[in-house]
Amino acid sequence: MSAMPPRATLRLVVDAASPDPSAIARAARVLASGGLVVFPTETVYGLGAHALDAAAVAGIFAAKERPTTDPLIVHLASAADLPRVAASVPAPAAALAARFWPGPLTLIVPRHADVPPEVTAGLPNVAVRVPAHPVAHALLAASGVPVAAPSANRFSRPSPTTAAHVLADLDTRVDIVLDAGPTDIGVESTIVDCTVMPPLVRRAGGVPFDALVAVVPDVTVADEVVGVDRAQIAPGQLLRHYAPAARVTVYDAAPAAGVARLAREVRQLTARGLRVGVLAPDEALTALAPEIAAAAAAGRVVVATLGPRDDGAAAARALFAALRALDAGGAEVILALGPTRAGLGAAVWDRLRRAAEGRIVPA
Ligand code: TXA
Ligand code: MG
Repeated sequence: MSAMPPRATLRLVVDAASPDPSAIARAARVLASGGLVVFPTETVYGLGAHALDAAAVAGIFAAKERPTTDPLIVHLASAADLPRVAASVPAPAAALAARFWPGPLTLIVPRHADVPPEVTAGLPNVAVRVPAHPVAHALLAASGVPVAAPSANRFSRPSPTTAAHVLADLDTRVDIVLDAGPTDIGVESTIVDCTVMPPLVRRAGGVPFDALVAVVPDVTVADEVVGVDRAQIAPGQLLRHYAPAARVTVYDAAPAAGVARLAREVRQLTARGLRVGVLAPDEALTALAPEIAAAAAAGRVVVATLGPRDDGAAAARALFAALRALDAGGAEVILALGPTRAGLGAAVWDRLRRAAEGRIVPA
């Protein structure tokens, strides 16, 4: 994680559905020759490097200031490339890949000897995914190499869903940023460990749990995913993750009680002179508005929405941008109410819990 000399960062704007082949070819050359290229996936933006080039991979850790104990996901153009990075493919992994690739699912499988230990933090297993985003796909196909890519944020910052988020964290630290606008899903891929039986969900994400069960009925969910606190969870999965600068507290309550609690907290904190960020579903913000009108009029409240309460996908799309917006708005503390836990709502709750470093308070 040594400091890296600054480099010129080139932002190339490309069409999300059919990116300019010359921009893709340029980025692919940089990748294949050991450079760092940020690209959109359907989940979040990724910071890519040639996965079989240990020096290039070291650049990822330096740019992100990420501990080298936190393993990376290897991205492939096609499931047919899996034997290049996997020593074997367990049956559940093959079934999940057939159903969900390309898409927001990462599979942990035994590592091929060609994958340098830097990628997997020395683990005997490797995390692999085939993204569905046309820009990611075009880049991976053109580069012809497996690409290691974590989310393109500085370590412990919220993952980036726009190129502006990427540049806020990584300008002068990467060679190219392919800017194709906001990402679709907004939270990272679901991670399923297929090296254990039954397979284990290690991170909630873009593929909801129910969809996994339909393919692998005995798939189970790791403790850390359902909120059993441990200081260090899956390798590299620190509880403090996805965190804005402000201290976050999440209130887990029925809608009316949540609004009442939030109103009380906002009045108390703003009375003490703090600038308070509020993150909540639309319905809660509407109900809250008259309760905190005085603090809002005094400019002490910044608000961001998660969209309609029952729409987990909308909350996933909004979450990381909302956390960054509250930071940018000067929030010193953030109080949050969550959306539904159904569908993508489960991944949103997981990220909220991490942003809050476990501070989920019953109300
Ligand atoms: O949607 C995504 O997955 C995005 C896009 C860019 O593809 N990538 C992403 O990468 O979220 P990252 O580095 O932010 O999260 C990867 C996590 C690691 O922190 C670790 O918990 C887990 O994946 N992981 C990676 N390799 C692993 C391995 N060999 N064994 C266990 N967990 C692993
Ligand atoms: Mg990340």
